[in-house]
Amino acid sequence: MRVLITGAGGQLGHDLLAAFGDDDCAGLGHAELDVSDEASVVAAVRDHAPDLVVHAAAFTKVDACEAEPDVAWRVNALGSWWVARACALADAAMVYVSTDYVFDGLLGRPYTSFDPTNPVSMYGRSKEAGEQLVRQTLARHYIVRTSWVQGAHGGNFVKTMLRLGRERDALSVVDDQTGSPTFTFDLAPAIRRLAVTGRHGTYHLTNRGHCTWFEFARAVFSEAGIAVDVSPTDTATFGAPAPRPSYSVLDNRLAGMVGLQPLPPWRTSLKRLVAELG
Ligand SMILES: NC(=O)c1ccc[n+]([C@@H]2O[C@H](COP(=O)([O-])OP(=O)(O)OC[C@H]3O[C@@H](n4cnc5c(N)ncnc54)[C@H](OP(=O)(O)O)[C@@H]3O)[C@@H](O)[C@H]2O)c1
Repeated sequence: MRVLITGAGGQLGHDLLAAFGDDDCAGLGHAELDVSDEASVVAAVRDHAPDLVVHAAAFTKVDACEAEPDVAWRVNALGSWWVARACALADAAMVYVSTDYVFDGLLGRPYTSFDPTNPVSMYGRSKEAGEQLVRQTLARHYIVRTSWVQGAHGGNFVKTMLRLGRERDALSVVDDQTGSPTFTFDLAPAIRRLAVTGRHGTYHLTNRGHCTWFEFARAVFSEAGIAVDVSPTDTATFGAPAPRPSYSVLDNRLAGMVGLQPLPPWRTSLKRLVAELG
């Protein structure tokens, strides 16, 4: 299978390159391909002639999306449209990596692939627009919503906590947002397994279990053996620019129905990531 990965320099992109390592796989980082440039996207997909494009490039800075909505729309919505159009022209299938932030967090139970979306942030709105444009443009799509992504390469919550835990004696972490931390070394191979099923559609892929950011931080410090005084705070007090869903746990059952094994419990994979980061 010939595979092309966008956003190959990102934390998921890095592990996607490894997961598709036995395939005829190429990865393009931001410097090699700006997905918001339609002509470049069409040319890249035409030249690589892939069977599958895994579109992992995105403007992922959730708070910056509020300040720079034009960039969010251009990259997350239009860029995904260009990739889908290029795939249609080249007769390729596509994986679009999306997010739990397409939901408002008010449902009170894990979201299935069929629950209505209602994003509360610019990031979520632009990613949801990307989903719609992909669905409308290319039948052979897999939309993979995931959450709270953590990997060895790139910035993420685990790395931030490890740094802050070493710099500070005490810190406060939000305790009123619940989600499922998901690890790129589990997610990337799961995306590959899904992408060879031929069962196109919208899937949720996250590690098993859930926690709040506060609980997640405590687990990070426990795994790393860092003694730091962590106290819970709430979203309003923390005051981040972008609103976030309070409960965005994703129900992975559709992936199970097409034969995928569940991803490991988040705590197991956190242990592995902390060990890898040393
Ligand atoms: N991180 C999370 O918690 C999370 C949660 C749910 C879903 N997701 C989704 O998972 C996917 C992978 O995210 P990630 O965590 O791996 O994020 P990441 O590390 O930020 O990777 C995204 C990559 O996209 C690149 N990029 C940004 N604008 C681009 C453009 N115009 N053209 C081409 N590349 C561009 C970035 O390059 P620069 O660094 O140079 O800008 C970066 O290398 C994304 O679709 C994201 O929306 C992430």
